[in-house]
Amino acid sequence: MEPVRDGKGLRVNVPRLRWVAILFLTLLVILALVLLLVFYVPEQAAMGYLVLGLAGLGATVLLLIAVFALSSDYLRTQKRLLDLLAREKEAVKIEQQSAEIILELNALVSKQTEEQARLNEELRNLFMETIRALVATLEARDRYTEGHSVRVANWTKMLGNYIGLSDAEMEVLERGSLLHDIGKIGIPDQILHKPGRLTEEEFAVIKEHPARGEKIVEHIRQLSPSLPVIRWHHERPDGRGYPDGLTDIPKLALITSVCDCFDAMTSERPYRQAMTYSEAKSEMLKVAGNQHDKELTLAFFEMLETTEAGYRSMQHVPGLPPSGVVPENNARLESHHERSEILV
Ligand SMILES: [Fe+2]
Repeated sequence: MEPVRDGKGLRVNVPRLRWVAILFLTLLVILALVLLLVFYVPEQAAMGYLVLGLAGLGATVLLLIAVFALSSDYLRTQKRLLDLLAREKEAVKIEQQSAEIILELNALVSKQTEEQARLNEELRNLFMETIRALVATLEARDRYTEGHSVRVANWTKMLGNYIGLSDAEMEVLERGSLLHDIGKIGIPDQILHKPGRLTEEEFAVIKEHPARGEKIVEHIRQLSPSLPVIRWHHERPDGRGYPDGLTDIPKLALITSVCDCFDAMTSERPYRQAMTYSEAKSEMLKVAGNQHDKELTLAFFEMLETTEAGYRSMQHVPGLPPSGVVPENNARLESHHERSEILV
C-alpha cells in the first residue's frame, strides 16, 4: 500500500480485495459460531459438530492472520507515510532556503549593478572634469575666450535636448563641443590674440585648428565619436567652411557651429565689443542656411527665448531682452556684419 497525494491530500488506498477477504472471513467465523450455538447437542453427531467447530476455529485463525497482515501492512504504510511527510517537509525547507538564497543573490547582484553604475558615472564625470580642466587651461591664456567652450557646450546640450537628441548623441555632443577648439592649443598667441584684422596667412593658420584638434584627441577611444564635431564645427552648409568644405555636415557639428558662433558674437573681443542679443540674433538669421543650418539656428533662438534654462543661460549677454520678448532692431548691426564672416 503506497501513500499517494492527490487533490484531497496525502492518503493510503487499501486494496479492495483485502477488505472483501476480511469481510468474507468475518462472516464465515460468525456463521460457524452461530451454527455451533444453534445445533450444539452433545449427545448427537458429536463428530459433525467437532468438524464445524474446527472449521470455525480455522476461519477465526485465518481472520486473525488477515487482520494481523493488514495491521502490519498498515504500520509499514504509516511508516512510509511519515517518511514521505518528513521528506516533503525537508523539501519545503530546502525550497524555502533556496528562495532565500535566490533573494539574497538577487539583492547582491542588484547592489553590485548599482555600484557598477555609480562607478561608471563617477568615471564619466571624472572624464568630463578632466576635459573641462584641459579646456579651462587652454582658455585661461586669453581673457577674451575664457569660458567659451563651457558656454558653447552648455548651449549645445540645451539645443540637443530641445530638438530631442538621444542620450548617446548628447554625450558625444557634449564631449565634442567642449573640445571643439582644443586645436587652438598649437596656434601662436600673436595670431590667436591679435587685436586687429588677421592677414590671409594668419587666418590660414587659424583655420588649421579643427584638424589639429582632431589630431590631438584621435587616440582617445572614448572621444572617437566626437571627432566629427571637432573637425567640422567650422564647416558651412554652403560648402564655404573649413577645413574640408563639406556640404553634408553631421548634425552634431552643425549644432556646435550655431552655439559657437552665438557665443563668439556675444563675447568681447580685442577688436570689438560684445554684440547684444538682438544684434547677434539678426546677424545669425541673415546667414542662416549658408553659414549655419537654418532650422537649427531657428530652434536655437526659440530655445533661448522660450525656455527658462535657455533664458537664464544668457545672463552675461549684453542687451538681454525681458524674458520671452526680444527687441527687433539693432543699431550696431552693420558695423559687425563684416566681422561675423571670420569669427573663429
Ligand atoms: Fe573653432
